[in-house]
Amino acid sequence: MSVLSNRLTELLGIEYPIIQEGMGPYQTDRIAAAVSAAGGLGTVSMPGMTKDPAAGAKLLREHIDRVASLTDRPFAVNVPVGRDSTNRVLPVSEAYIRAVVQARASDSALAKQLRVLTTSAGFPGEFRPLIADSGLVHMHKVGATAHARKAEEAGVDVVIASGYEMGGHTHARPVHTFVLVPNVTETVSVPVVLSGGARDGRTLAAALALGASGVAMGTRFIATEDNTDWHPAYAARIIAAGEGDDTVAPGVYGPARVLRNGAVDQLEQMIRTNELDTGEITKWKDEALIRAQSTGDVDGGLMAAGQVSSGIADLVRIADFVPRIAQDAAAILRNLAGIAEPVP
Ligand SMILES: Cc1cc2nc3c(=O)[nH]c(=O)nc-3n(C[C@H](O)[C@H](O)[C@H](O)COP(=O)(O)O)c2cc1C
Repeated sequence: MSVLSNRLTELLGIEYPIIQEGMGPYQTDRIAAAVSAAGGLGTVSMPGMTKDPAAGAKLLREHIDRVASLTDRPFAVNVPVGRDSTNRVLPVSEAYIRAVVQARASDSALAKQLRVLTTSAGFPGEFRPLIADSGLVHMHKVGATAHARKAEEAGVDVVIASGYEMGGHTHARPVHTFVLVPNVTETVSVPVVLSGGARDGRTLAAALALGASGVAMGTRFIATEDNTDWHPAYAARIIAAGEGDDTVAPGVYGPARVLRNGAVDQLEQMIRTNELDTGEITKWKDEALIRAQSTGDVDGGLMAAGQVSSGIADLVRIADFVPRIAQDAAAILRNLAGIAEPVP
């Protein structure tokens, strides 16, 4: 038992209710391993939606094995679920889900660590039996209370309620974290995780006050000393960002929050002029995201990041950061309990 242990930490087998979420299409192996080693839950990110399914699944498995070699603690894998025009789950999403299930089935030592599958974007209802039978804890990310209810009804174990201010793919109908999370926590009975705008002990304490069992963060974990998989210019750009520097642009499967730059101008221009067909634009976006993450091209690449960038001012070390924000949140909650004492 540690500070802030609860039913979420128990279910996931972690110390602190703090999650690093998937941030594809590039890799988050070192961040994930560092977050898990620090007592939170790290997440392996998906390698991209435009990959050949077999090659993508192989790459995902390599990332899973790499994280398992860097930590002995539990971790998650994120699979965004895309659908085609006939509403069929995209072959690449299906291949990723099957790769995660197979990784667990093929290696009992790995299965002890690879505990969680986080799905996002669309809901993989047809794969629920496969996921449930595999023994994976299934977390699903939603941006609307109706989707949280549907996920719970389908048997999902944890709902991640992510508000519109989040970085990366956000939601078609904007509901912000402060409104969404209490709506979701009063609707479902499974544990709820707040995502979108969290960055410190105060936001973790606020999540708990709203009825959530923990926080999940993306943007904050980019600006860390441990993020050596990504080019440092990406984190530097997040640290430099102020309020209003972000925008919502058409992403790979819906709107995505990014920092406004030359790539966003170029994307908008390509869409206006119909220069490329849909498949070509999707490929361009996937490559532009990876370019920013891997080469630090912060103007010509797409810079997925949340509004919380404006509140991030430094690089932190994950081993210190994760326990510290749990302790800060606990201290805040204790102080607040003090000021809420009845006046004699
Ligand atoms: C660079 C970046 C890439 C992302 N890629 C993914 C992804 O592949 N799958 C996914 O479900 N969410 C993705 N997201 C969203 C995050 O998982 C998370 O929901 C979000 O960052 C939370 O909001 P925050 O940025 O305010 O912490 C991405 C976010 C960022 C910043």
